Amino acid sequence: MPSKLYICAKFTFRFYTMKTKIAVARGDGIGPEIMQAVLRIFEANSVPLEYEYVEMGKSYFDAGHSTGMTDAAKATIESLGLLFKGPMETPKGKGVKSINVTARKVWNTYANQRDFRTLNGVETVFSKAGIPINLTIIRENIEDTYGGIEHLLTYDVAVGRRIITRPGSAQVIRYAFEMARRKGYTKLACGHKANIMKLTDGLFLETFQEIAKEYPDIETSDIIVDDLCMKLVTHPEKFQAIVLTNLQGDIVSDLCAGLVGGLGFAPSANIGDNISIFEAVHGTAPDIAGKGIANPTALLLSGILMLRYMGFTENAAIIENALLYTLERGIHTGDFGNKSIPAATTNGFAEAIIANLGKVPADGGVTGKANLETKANENHHRLTKNKLTVTKGIKEEMVGVDVFVEAGDLQPAELAELAKKRLTDNFDLVMISNRGTQVWPTGSIFTELVNEYRVRFEKKAGKTVTQKELLHIAADFSLDAKVCSVEFLMKFDGKIGYTLAQGQ
Ligand code: NAI
Repeated sequence: MPSKLYICAKFTFRFYTMKTKIAVARGDGIGPEIMQAVLRIFEANSVPLEYEYVEMGKSYFDAGHSTGMTDAAKATIESLGLLFKGPMETPKGKGVKSINVTARKVWNTYANQRDFRTLNGVETVFSKAGIPINLTIIRENIEDTYGGIEHLLTYDVAVGRRIITRPGSAQVIRYAFEMARRKGYTKLACGHKANIMKLTDGLFLETFQEIAKEYPDIETSDIIVDDLCMKLVTHPEKFQAIVLTNLQGDIVSDLCAGLVGGLGFAPSANIGDNISIFEAVHGTAPDIAGKGIANPTALLLSGILMLRYMGFTENAAIIENALLYTLERGIHTGDFGNKSIPAATTNGFAEAIIANLGKVPADGGVTGKANLETKANENHHRLTKNKLTVTKGIKEEMVGVDVFVEAGDLQPAELAELAKKRLTDNFDLVMISNRGTQVWPTGSIFTELVNEYRVRFEKKAGKTVTQKELLHIAADFSLDAKVCSVEFLMKFDGKIGYTLAQGQ
């Protein structure tokens, strides 16, 4: 749908009950069951949405669609800008990429927001101890190791690329600050491992600290991710919002799901500037699929996030209050709750929520305006070219090259002699490392080796080198050892853009 119509729908639905169309993918396994339950609740509350069902998921992989969706599904989602999806299965061992990850990456849904809070009726160690949890994890959603760029450099050595970018970090971190403001949070923490991954996590942290200057009303802190995990388990009530890189955010958010009762209560929003995807955190639950017993709460909470995002805050509040009231009454599906009360089916649970529309939980519940998170895809429009972001005006200097080689049974000193044959007046052989630990010119006899070395050549002081010269070194070196890959050593505005070896 063109954006004007979308925005028009957003602002006028109360007067004309005009419906906004979104794309819906039922998903695999329990997906269709929980999606049906959620849409019944939406219908009972007259949520002004219309659904265009799209063909995505396992059966479309099986039918030969390598991305797991039809061209028509892709076109529909790109034109509507919003996808509400059930969990989907990626066939194992067929060389196809996860449709869930592909969808997030292709459409640049850069911020994954996951809200976790104590729900009355969902018993946890924290609820029993009277410790309330209400925190949001914002996980970067498209970068990091999720690019899946991996190579076997030798039969013994696999290497994966971890991509952290300045524009990608800025996008998600800015979203986290804006979200914190919208929710009335006073604190935002950045989880990271910049003490070890100095350039990747370092860039993420540096970007966080830069953007923080624009939000003086939000108290910021940074915390190393392992310490964060420990503190989340011991004092979850101390956190409001945490922004993290992709893989760390993935792990930390499942930890948080455990704090509030498990994956059945973990909603997720994948937010982009043009397309956004709302889904539960859990998967297709193949062990219970088709039995009609799945818990629809996580998908319902994701749907509530979506309604708020679209500006339908009153519907969101009514449905959320009905859910909270229902949980408070002890009504539950088989995966949680008081076992002495018989478990409801998926449909039975949905019916109970429908019967409770208009009721509010004991604590007064939420209001249409509370928790306001409105940020609909107002930018949604037909793009004519890919957005490309480049930081300009940076002084770059090429200072050397790391040549990664497979050197058979050679010891470091033997490899150094071969490397020295490739030196010209412009270069020094600076060091050789193995698995990141320096083994030449100094090292320890106790360092165990594998058959891939990194050989570092750096230009001599005062010399200028070209990329061609550096490539020549690698090409000549290949006469003596198998070159596996090459990385250039750069300085940006005088700061080195590569790490030193352990022990260098
Ligand atoms: P899973 O989340 O599907 O299941 C883990 C356990 O939690 C199972 O015992 C399951 O019965 C239970 N469970 C999950 N959701 C539930 C619900 N709503 N109600 C009651 N119990 C529930 O994780 P698993 O088994 O690792 O993955 C199964 C499939 O789902 C895989 O093909 C995986 O790739 C896919 N998956 C898809 C996701 C998505 O579409 N975003 C996310 C995670 C996994």
